[in-house]
Amino acid sequence: MDRFIIRGGKPLHGEITIGGAKNAGLKLMVAGLLTGERLVLTNVPRIADIATMRDLLVQHGVAVEDLNGDGSSYSIGGEITNTEAPYDIVSKMRASILVLGPLLARCRKARVSLPGGCAIGTRPVDMHLKGLETLGAEIRLEGGYINATAPNGLIGDRVILPFASVGATENLLMAATLAKGRTEIVNAAREPEIGDLVACLNAMGAKITGSGSGTLVIDGVDSLHGAEHRIMPDRIECGTYACAAGITGGDLKLLGGRVDDLGAVVRALEETGVEVTQESYGMRVRRTGALRGIDIMTEPYPGFPTDMQAQFMAMLAVAEGASMITETIFENRFMHVPELNRMGARINVHGSSAIIRGVHALSGAPVMATDLRASFSLILAGLAAHGETTLSRVYHLDRGYEAVEKKLAACGANIERVKG
Ligand code: EPZ
Repeated sequence: MDRFIIRGGKPLHGEITIGGAKNAGLKLMVAGLLTGERLVLTNVPRIADIATMRDLLVQHGVAVEDLNGDGSSYSIGGEITNTEAPYDIVSKMRASILVLGPLLARCRKARVSLPGGCAIGTRPVDMHLKGLETLGAEIRLEGGYINATAPNGLIGDRVILPFASVGATENLLMAATLAKGRTEIVNAAREPEIGDLVACLNAMGAKITGSGSGTLVIDGVDSLHGAEHRIMPDRIECGTYACAAGITGGDLKLLGGRVDDLGAVVRALEETGVEVTQESYGMRVRRTGALRGIDIMTEPYPGFPTDMQAQFMAMLAVAEGASMITETIFENRFMHVPELNRMGARINVHGSSAIIRGVHALSGAPVMATDLRASFSLILAGLAAHGETTLSRVYHLDRGYEAVEKKLAACGANIERVKG
């Protein structure tokens, strides 16, 4: 298993290109199941989860062609010959559950493994299933699999989500594009990645309105056609590198970054003492003085995103004063805390809140990645720490971030990947 060796203490200066959004790209690939024609996606991030999604679609029978041979553009299309999503793929990547709605819409049946839990929480899919039943699906759980049929096709209806679930919104949205009649998804998630999915689906001939409003209205059509879509920039990657500028006292140009996508993160960065400006090339982030502690609560968009919580905690670990971070989305997303404390941070977890008392400096140490965002939190700490940090289990990071060591080293970081 690869590991990173990081020698901290150097402010980062330079340019970092922000790639295509993982949490948009994965769903846009699934949208390729909704038509037999070619869906072309560009600005595809080269990360492990995208490769896993490619494998999943291929085993469903559709062709996934790497148009440039470098993983940056995919052409997806063809007929579905297998409506089963197996446990070995679904358990590796939870986003696989999103094939359920499209398979039901196109083939009127699907057998999809239940994803099971993951490091950050139990992550049930009850809202996905109840919503599809509202649209006429018959669902039976057996042997760890979801057996779903819609013998008469899906029928549009009003679905009220008890929580603004990103995945449930996306599953129902894609299913509804081919349902008979109108579907309303009330309390729909409003994350920008869903707006990107709506734009692509409408380009494919879907009839969707209400993007970003919390209520999505979909008028079903008989079929969708091919399209070409450029994946939006990854706002979480952008926010993550903004924290790298903050924690190292640097100044970074994040090419392609969009301030508007980051919402509450921009306010939190500025309150902490990181200046953020939108420039023609993207987003500029630089530390303007001492970091100051702040309080954060994670919430659905446009609130502070849970996917930025671990990264921000690393930065607040060396801020002046105390901070409190409350995680309201997942029940176990503080696994980076003991690792940060091994580096000299002073963080105490009380239920869903973490109290962070800023320290003057962190010390390098051997630490272990536990999940995608936690792994970057430890990189950030290592970039600021005195001495050497070794981060193991870097495969967690490779699932969702592209070429991290290259992007950071190009801005002056002393970081290397040791193959293992
Ligand atoms: C998406 O996960 C993202 N993943 C997550 O990013 C992100 O943290 C999350 O949205 C919240 O923004 C992808 O887009 C691939 P949810 P998702 O459904 O769709 C509960 C990352 O680091 N829930 O909004 O699974 C669930 O347990 C990843 O890139 C139910 O109870 O998130 C969780 O507590 C991590 N029943 C909360 O809702 C359901 O049927 C939010 O889940 C569905 C969800």
